Amino acid sequence: MTKAQIGVYGLGTMGSALALNMAEQGFEVAVTNRETAWIADFIREAGTLAGKLQGYETLEEFVAGLAAPRVILFMIPSGAPMDAMIEAVTPLLAAGDTIIDGGNADFHLTRRRAAALQAKDLHFVGMGVSGGEEGARHGPSMMVGGSGHSWAQLKPILRAIAAKFEGNPCVDLMGPDGAGHFVKTVHNGIEYADMQVIAEVYGLLRYGAAKAPREIGEMFADWDQGRLKSYLIEITGKVLHYDDPKTGHPVVDVITDAAGQKGTGRWTVVEAIKLGQSANLIEAAVGARGWSSEKDTRAEAEKILGGERGWFDPGEAPLKEAFLAARILGYAQGFRILAAASEEYEWDLDYARIAQVWRAGCIIRSALLDDISEAFAGDLPAGQLILAPGFAKMLSTSVPALRKVVAAAVTGGHAVPGLSAALAWYDSMRQGYGTANIIQAQRDFFGHHGFERLGEAGKHHGPWWD
Ligand code: 6PG
Repeated sequence: MTKAQIGVYGLGTMGSALALNMAEQGFEVAVTNRETAWIADFIREAGTLAGKLQGYETLEEFVAGLAAPRVILFMIPSGAPMDAMIEAVTPLLAAGDTIIDGGNADFHLTRRRAAALQAKDLHFVGMGVSGGEEGARHGPSMMVGGSGHSWAQLKPILRAIAAKFEGNPCVDLMGPDGAGHFVKTVHNGIEYADMQVIAEVYGLLRYGAAKAPREIGEMFADWDQGRLKSYLIEITGKVLHYDDPKTGHPVVDVITDAAGQKGTGRWTVVEAIKLGQSANLIEAAVGARGWSSEKDTRAEAEKILGGERGWFDPGEAPLKEAFLAARILGYAQGFRILAAASEEYEWDLDYARIAQVWRAGCIIRSALLDDISEAFAGDLPAGQLILAPGFAKMLSTSVPALRKVVAAAVTGGHAVPGLSAALAWYDSMRQGYGTANIIQAQRDFFGHHGFERLGEAGKHHGPWWD
C-alpha cells in the first residue's frame, strides 16, 4: 500500500470532514480514532472517497502507514487529551516529523508544546481552522503557526483543501509556534463581537419597534449585499425566517436566551488585557454571554427592577450605519490585539494577509475584509485600523448614526452593551488629551507614584508633596 501523505487522528465532526476534504483533493490519508469502532464506519460512509482513506486501529500501524517526514493532524480536544496523545505518539516519530493541533487551543499551550518537541527535533504546529463542519468539508480558512519546515510539508495539502477567495487559498503561515492559534483566537473574539452587535440590532427592532422576526430577517437579507455582506448577517437573516414545527412560533422565540461559550472569546479578552489593551467591544460580547446565562437572576430582577423598554424605532438606514460603525470598531479592536501580540512575541504578523485568509471559509468572512486587507497593505501605525484614511472616512459618516442609536436605546432602557462599548472606545481614542491626567494626579497624591509633565520627560510630583 502507498504510504499516506498525511494522517488524521480524531474522526469527530471536524476531523472526518477534513479527512474527506483531503481525500477529495486526491491525497492519500491515513485515519484513526480513539474509539476504533468508528473507523470502518467512517471509511464505508466515505463512498467513492474510501479508496483514498487508509484506516488503522493502532497508533503504531497508523504512524507506520505515513510517508516520512510524517505529518499528523490531531482533531481532538486541546487540553489534557492533546498532551496525552503527544506523549503516546512522540516515541513513534523521527526527526523532521510534524504534529498539528487543529483544534481551538490556548496559544500559550501551543508555544510550550512547540518548544518541548523542538528539543526532540520534532515540529509542533498550532492550526486554527474556521468554518464549522461545512467549511472543513468543502473549504475552511486556516491559520497556521509553526516552523518553515512544517509549512513546506503542509502547504500543498492545506492550499488544496482551503476555501478560495477569487482563486486564492485562504490559508497561510501566520508565524511561529502559537501565532496560528492566537490569530484564530482573535478571529473568534471578533466573531463574538459581531454576533453580539447583530443580536442587539435585532433586539432594538424586535422589542423597541415591535417588528416580527421574519421582517427583521428580510432586513438582514437586504443588508447581506454590498459593504455589510457577511456570513453572520446572512445566517441571521436565514434563521429569522424559520418557524418552530412544534408550536408554529418563530423558532427564535422558542430558543432559551442563554448563550454558550467554549472559551476563545474569553481568551481574546484576557490576552488583550495582558497586552495592555482593552478590546471593550469583545469584552462586552463575552460579558453579555455571561449575563445571558444568569437566566434565573434575570427573571427575578425583571420582577423586582422592572423590565420595561421604551418604544424606539431607529429606522433601518441609521441602524445599518450604526451597525457598520460597530463592525468596523470590532475588527479594529481585533487587529489592535494582533498588533500588540505580534510585538510582544516577535511574530511579525502580516495583517493584510490575515484579512485575506479571513475573506472566505471562516465565520467572520465579510466584504469589509477586502477593504481591511487593502488598508493594511499601506503603512498603518500600531495596527490601528481606525487610522486608515478609508476607515476614518467610513467612521466619520457612520458614527453619528451609532451615537443616535446608542443614545435613544439607552434612554429607552434597551441593553446595548456592544454598540455602546464600540462608541466609548471610538470616543476615547479620538481625544488627543483625555482624562488620565486626573488618574495620574490621584496616584501621585495617595501613593507618591509620580507623573510625566506635558513635554517634559522624567518623574514629577505634584505641589501636594511640597
Ligand atoms: C469557527 C468557530 C468555531 C467555534 C464556534 C463555537 O471559526 O469555526 O469560531 O471555532 O468553536 O464558533 O464557539 P463558542 O462556543 O465559544 O461560541
